[in-house]
Amino acid sequence: MNQDELKRAVGQAAADYVVAHAPQGAVLGVGTGSTANCFIDAIAPFKERFRGAVSSSEASTDRLRSHGFAILDLNDVSEIPVYVDGADEVNDRLHMVKGGGGALTREKIVAAVADTFVCIADASKLVPTLGAFPLPVEVIPMACAHVARELAKLGGDPHLRKGFITDNGNLILDVRGLSIDDPVALEAHINQIVGVVCNGLFAARGADLLLLGTPDGVRQLHPKS
Ligand code: 5RP
Repeated sequence: MNQDELKRAVGQAAADYVVAHAPQGAVLGVGTGSTANCFIDAIAPFKERFRGAVSSSEASTDRLRSHGFAILDLNDVSEIPVYVDGADEVNDRLHMVKGGGGALTREKIVAAVADTFVCIADASKLVPTLGAFPLPVEVIPMACAHVARELAKLGGDPHLRKGFITDNGNLILDVRGLSIDDPVALEAHINQIVGVVCNGLFAARGADLLLLGTPDGVRQLHPKS
């Protein structure tokens, strides 16, 4: 199976999970990226079961709408039983690096409201230690140089994502070379830098379940303690 087939397999597995676990009339939380797109396509035939979806990006909103999903404002929603999203890296505690698609802030907000975060990923995304994938940090444009200097003090090598503006009108610094031994502490630390909107470490609120696409089938992994 190639990587696209693995993504389709986990997208389908996530749709099966959501149909089995989310109550009739529930609001669905939907992530962003090529794997999340596979989930959107797989859940589309079941859209009548849901009140609608809260989306984490304009791209996912467009795809959901093209399938006929109602898009809900998060401020009008008090409960999201399940949020499904991909990851750039995930470890065995189900801490993640996310934001390769630049949607990290809205993804983190929707994930914060959700009862259950289901991460969907092909086997290449499971790593022993986070950090080989450059960590995305969303910054307020006027603070970009300041934040870059502060990230360099942490040992990182920040690069501005060229030609990219987030759905929130901000910039992304992709930070290489960070040693992420303590994802929870680093997530909190980076968030304290003035001008940072959000960083792509999803550790304080990690995933509750990982559906991992492998050549032998989709494996279900729970966070190791
Ligand atoms: C977007 C994300 C994505 O979930 C992450 O980049 C994985 O994307 P893909 O499924 O295309 O590999 O965090 O901001």
